[in-house]
Amino acid sequence: MDFPTTRPNIEKLQNYKPNFGKSKIGNLIRLSANESALGASLKAIEALKLFSYDLNRYPPQVSEELISAISKRYSLAKKKIILGNGSDELISILAQTFLNSEDEAIYTEFGFLQFPQAISIAGAKGVVANDVKFTANVDNILSKINKNTKIIFLANPNNPTGTFIPKKEVMRLHKSIPSNILLVYDAAYSEYVIDNDYFDGSELADANENVIMLRTFSKLHGLASLRLGWGYASENIIDNLMKVRGPFSVNTAAIMAGVAAIEDIEFQNKSVQHNIKWMSWFEKELQSINLDFQSSITNFLLIRFPSNRYNAQNAESFLASKGILVRGMKVYGLSNHLRVSIGNEEENFKFIKELKAFLAN
Ligand SMILES: Cc1ncc(COP(=O)(O)O)c(C=O)c1O
Repeated sequence: MDFPTTRPNIEKLQNYKPNFGKSKIGNLIRLSANESALGASLKAIEALKLFSYDLNRYPPQVSEELISAISKRYSLAKKKIILGNGSDELISILAQTFLNSEDEAIYTEFGFLQFPQAISIAGAKGVVANDVKFTANVDNILSKINKNTKIIFLANPNNPTGTFIPKKEVMRLHKSIPSNILLVYDAAYSEYVIDNDYFDGSELADANENVIMLRTFSKLHGLASLRLGWGYASENIIDNLMKVRGPFSVNTAAIMAGVAAIEDIEFQNKSVQHNIKWMSWFEKELQSINLDFQSSITNFLLIRFPSNRYNAQNAESFLASKGILVRGMKVYGLSNHLRVSIGNEEENFKFIKELKAFLAN
């Protein structure tokens, strides 16, 4: 019997599989998705309480209110901002908008998984640029450019490695690429970063027609469930992306909470301070038990396990049996590693306690 066939490039793809555990019942500690350790801003939660009417109405196609709030918070031009249903949606529509089947798009070796996914769905060819010491490498990226290259996807900082390349390297990358190649600069974790060598890419996107910066409300702002992201690029890019983006893909609840969250600077600062404090605590604890890890400027850490019985897979299972979810990294080709988000105080203590118990077993 005949049945409808998908496009061949879809057939080969894997469905994205997060580790959220089987159910939320029983106080699972979820350190597997780089979510906000402190929940969401109380002001965003308050804003959502007002969201009890007009469910029958479509959201605005473009929320002037949220765009103004973002523009004010980061001193950016309103016309260059696009909102999306998570930055995931923006990554997808960038691939769909710019990639033809004969085009190539470069992404880094341990770069965010949605990049190759979006490239494949668009039907183009993904090209991997090797990392050096788990860090994106500008020379390796440049060496992959040819006449078919259309996009370079760079998450800075990167998930799952937690590493970054400094501003001067990003500038060198941009200077070295032809102006017909689009640099997608994904700064999803930028709000956590306190390192002076880092930059979020907004000035590069402001000054150039071939750069888009991506941001999200899912991390520092703690609104992952509402699916809200944004991008910053030339008006020409934004206009074209809007032709591809679902007309109402950003819902009214996300807009209301988003405005309140971006204005709540106190919550943002508190979250950054929390992250700084606990990241350094994690580092000391991991050193004390001789586990190797990647220094991270984000809200998560990539930890390396030995290949004996104290390996990553056994650690993941042991922690899961104690109700703690972390992210296995096989899908990134890093089967000796686990990625762990910084949680709240109680979660962090429990994680390290159980990790020590696993290693003492
Ligand atoms: C580097 C990076 N970019 C984008 C995203 C997607 O964020 P959003 O929740 O806005 O789709 C993530 C989420 O984990 C990420 O790690």
